[in-house]
Amino acid sequence: MSPNIDPYNREITYLRISVTDRCNLRCIYCTPVKDLKVLDHANILTYEEILKVIRAATDLRIKKVRLTGGEPLLRKNFMHLVESVCRIPQIEDVSITTNGVFLKEMAPELFEAGVRRINVSLDTLNPLKYKMITGRECFDAVWEGLQIAETAGFSPIKLNVVAMRGINDDELFQFADLSVRKPYHIRFIEYMPIGRDTHWTPEKYISSDEIRSRLETFAPLHKISRSIYDGPAERYRFKSAQGEIGLISALSHHFCPSCNRLRLTADGKLRPCLFADDEVDIKTPLRNGCSQEDLKSLLQQAIGRKPKRHHAEILEKGACLRPMSTIGG
Ligand code: 5AD
Ligand code: SF4
Repeated sequence: MSPNIDPYNREITYLRISVTDRCNLRCIYCTPVKDLKVLDHANILTYEEILKVIRAATDLRIKKVRLTGGEPLLRKNFMHLVESVCRIPQIEDVSITTNGVFLKEMAPELFEAGVRRINVSLDTLNPLKYKMITGRECFDAVWEGLQIAETAGFSPIKLNVVAMRGINDDELFQFADLSVRKPYHIRFIEYMPIGRDTHWTPEKYISSDEIRSRLETFAPLHKISRSIYDGPAERYRFKSAQGEIGLISALSHHFCPSCNRLRLTADGKLRPCLFADDEVDIKTPLRNGCSQEDLKSLLQQAIGRKPKRHHAEILEKGACLRPMSTIGG
């Protein structure tokens, strides 16, 4: 059997790596209500360690890597890691999830290094509301960064919008209109109760079905047929639009049957599922000088521990202990 097939016959081809838990923003859906603790530098995997894990993963036919955070562009010498990952021949696709604040400085060199796909968190098109959601006045920087990324040639540029009732659901039409005018893929993500002591409340949650029917009062949405390379988003487009609409139903419809990913946390734990606290420690073996074969078998252990699906009761009690910033969005 292929080394990257999990117990439910899913092929795991995608490794998402949180390179730091630190972030310059404090998004309400990500940050705990009380003070955010950050990991000690000594507990964060070094670039050399991350590259070792990626090389071992390629032996298991992992082909795609996403670098995420916290905010990945914040980590010192991040370009060094990006260039090294882009040079690994078996990795066919390197993408980045960022809050976009540093894109205006870094987009050209990221493109130069070989990154083509970026996801930028942008939950509002209103600068004042941006400050309310993220705690920082950075809307203009992100917007400028998007224009620079577009000029640099990134495609697709995906905007992650966490849909929150009473916070940004009055902007659905503005986002719809943006997808018509710009080649952006606007992805509405169901608000997930990740971590403990968060601002999450059930009233703020909006299902993808509701988002879709509200968007359809703007204009008819045309479904784009799914390709095997698609992630969990259901894809749609408005007539003559340059961009797309994506709906990510993390909670209302299970995307678990098509899950193809494994996560590596900033502090070196392999996480079989975003929503489950089960983890395989890879940092300790790495620091004890384990071999590439050992790393492969740890990766295989994590693949073997992927649960069939997450459970809907997370809506009541919260999905897991860790904050999103250490898992990687
Ligand atoms: N619910 C939904 N999406 C989240 N993200 C972070 N926290 C949450 C949450 N609680 C997503 C955001 C961000 C990415 C890093 O992770 O879309 O863009
Ligand atoms: Fe930072 Fe991303 Fe968390 Fe916002 S969601 S605080 S940008 S890590």
